[in-house]
Amino acid sequence: MRKRNALVAFFLTCALLVSTIVRADEGMWIPMLIGKNYDQMKKQGFKLTPEDLYSINKASLKDAIVSFGGFCTGEIVSKNGLIFTNHHCGYDAVASHSTPLDNILDNGFWAKSYAEEKPVPGLFVNFLVRMEDVTSKVNAAVQGLPEAQKAAKIEEVGKQIAEAATKGTGYEGFVRDFYKGNQYFLYIFQKFNDVRLVGTPPQSIGKFGGDTDNWVWPRHTGDFTVFRVYASKDNKPATYAADNKPYTPKKFLPVSIKGTKNGDFSMVYGFPGRTDRFLTSYGVKLATEKVSPTIVKLRDIRLKAWKEEMDKDVATRLKLSSKYASIANYWKYFIGQTEQLKRLKIYEQKQKGEADFTRWAASNPTYAGLISGYEKAYEAYQPFAIERTYINEGFLATSWVRQLVTLAAAARQGEAKFAEAKNYVSSSLGDYEETYNEKADKKIFAKIHAAFYNDLPKSQHPKFYTTIAQDNWQGNPEETFNKYAEYLWNNSDLIRPDKLKAFLAKNPSVPDFEKDPAYQYAVNVIPADFIKANMGSAVSEFETTKATLDNLYLKALLEKNKGKLMYPDANSTMRITYGNVQNYSPKDGITYNTITTIDGVMQKYVPGDSEFDLPKSLIDAYNSRNFGQYAENGTLVVNFITNNDITGGNSGSPVINGNGELIGLAFDGNWEAMSGDIAFDKQYKRTICVDSRYVLWCIDVLGGAKNIISELDIRKNEPRAVTKKAVKK
Ligand code: ARG
Repeated sequence: MRKRNALVAFFLTCALLVSTIVRADEGMWIPMLIGKNYDQMKKQGFKLTPEDLYSINKASLKDAIVSFGGFCTGEIVSKNGLIFTNHHCGYDAVASHSTPLDNILDNGFWAKSYAEEKPVPGLFVNFLVRMEDVTSKVNAAVQGLPEAQKAAKIEEVGKQIAEAATKGTGYEGFVRDFYKGNQYFLYIFQKFNDVRLVGTPPQSIGKFGGDTDNWVWPRHTGDFTVFRVYASKDNKPATYAADNKPYTPKKFLPVSIKGTKNGDFSMVYGFPGRTDRFLTSYGVKLATEKVSPTIVKLRDIRLKAWKEEMDKDVATRLKLSSKYASIANYWKYFIGQTEQLKRLKIYEQKQKGEADFTRWAASNPTYAGLISGYEKAYEAYQPFAIERTYINEGFLATSWVRQLVTLAAAARQGEAKFAEAKNYVSSSLGDYEETYNEKADKKIFAKIHAAFYNDLPKSQHPKFYTTIAQDNWQGNPEETFNKYAEYLWNNSDLIRPDKLKAFLAKNPSVPDFEKDPAYQYAVNVIPADFIKANMGSAVSEFETTKATLDNLYLKALLEKNKGKLMYPDANSTMRITYGNVQNYSPKDGITYNTITTIDGVMQKYVPGDSEFDLPKSLIDAYNSRNFGQYAENGTLVVNFITNNDITGGNSGSPVINGNGELIGLAFDGNWEAMSGDIAFDKQYKRTICVDSRYVLWCIDVLGGAKNIISELDIRKNEPRAVTKKAVKK
């Protein structure tokens, strides 16, 4: 939502002081419709055609970009299906191949041949085949239906459309809604399940700076890993088989080692997960005051308990580190988001926008009461917001409870459903074992329940809760829930992975299951039941009302902005964001450069530190200035920033120059704009990228993996340009 108020004008003026090149940058655009943005892109330095970006008739850039595992983005960089993505996207795959004796997470790994590449069960990549606007089909199906029946119908008809479109093709498909249900697109994609790990730098490079530097510029992280997608002999998707062949892609990206400068065109093409740019001031207030602080508090409990155990021995650290990193990532995200929402006065900005909207809508009976409708809905819901946050971030925060809740919810529906759940849980016991840690899990259980006890008014304490507290009372809530935890662990067959495994092996019936004390606990925290029992219809009423208001609000905004370009919220579908390499001023008197170098990596080096240590190979190469063909002005560029509009899910996305070449991988956002998922701030919002030259240098010079380098199509400066530069120096 673009707001032309005084504050925005002021920000724009400030931005102009940093650099005179301020261009459009906000927006996650739909590839199929990118023609509408084309003139602007061209003006900013894009040299290819819209057809080069998205085409269903010929190979285009979209064919070189994959949804990586559904949670990140990757790009194809060779004719043999080689994929670049972020280190934090490959982290789980790397960690699960790591043991104290073969510790590739800490030491790095480079496959020197196809045979050495490591399969990653469960990992997949999706290629987009095509997309199609199916709004009229969806609308026709729900025409005249009562509001309450629409959501289910939309889902049903979406499935039918996808099925009809993919039948007999081997492709998969889904329909997604845009602008809160004002437009629908069908996506057809090809899914590949044999994806293998080709290489990774040690995490002292791939995660250099750790949680301290996470979400912060200036940054010095080599956040990349390398994978390869495999296919059957006829180049089709296939489940893992040793003799599958590297996939031959329709398109792959050349890699530029020419470098970038402030103002250069840059584009990020990938799969942003979720933004909430149309959230109202009421939503902002609820998030900053209640929901986000609760999330942070509950994650903090988990992180501290895990860290204590992880610091004790390497095996535990390797086991828990991937999960730990993802909890920590969004722990810090919510701290930053709250801080920046306040600092940038997003609540006040949204209020102004809403007042403006209400003036515009005054004469339109359909839209006139929209904003006050939101006000009422939030008013009724807000007393339950913290309690609800406790479900996922608290009660279900440890894997043993999640397992049991799956079983308990199924058991309530009878033996048949219970049998399905038993199969499912039995097959995922491996994952469970991986994150199970008895000491930490007990501590987390007691601390989270004590926090609930203290944070929520007594009137909101569920009955089972009061009973547990009374029966075990030890003078304070934490000791009380500690005692209850000891009781559960000592008396249940369902908590310890080995016991649960043995229990399931006996093929228990629902009544057998119901006898266990841990079931007696878990059955109370089945989310839907918990909500109904303790919050009545407040939550579902809020959800339905909000969905209806959102749909109408977006309909109105589309009308209000008719003729202007307006992009929809991210929804894990493929998007393009374009702008340029761009510096910024974080505060008065300071300007941040667009690049960081290896000199800065060395300045941050702390030997033996868990976040700022460095491998000897890097230090040696630095000391001998061994930067190979990747140097710029005698040093090595590590990270750079652009003003592109990205969010979670974009991680690993290619950053592409005006010629369609890979100049880096997007991997993070900056602290000053952590509020970006809710409001894009032109002055502050930046995308942090790892420079392609640092990626190649780590593979080539540090990793010695010439086999990988020789697969790439590397684009260098024209010899003439090099001479010119040298003369200038
Ligand atoms: N903040 C990054 C993102 O969400 C993840 C960075 C991973 N690094 C880390 N230290 N956790 O994409």
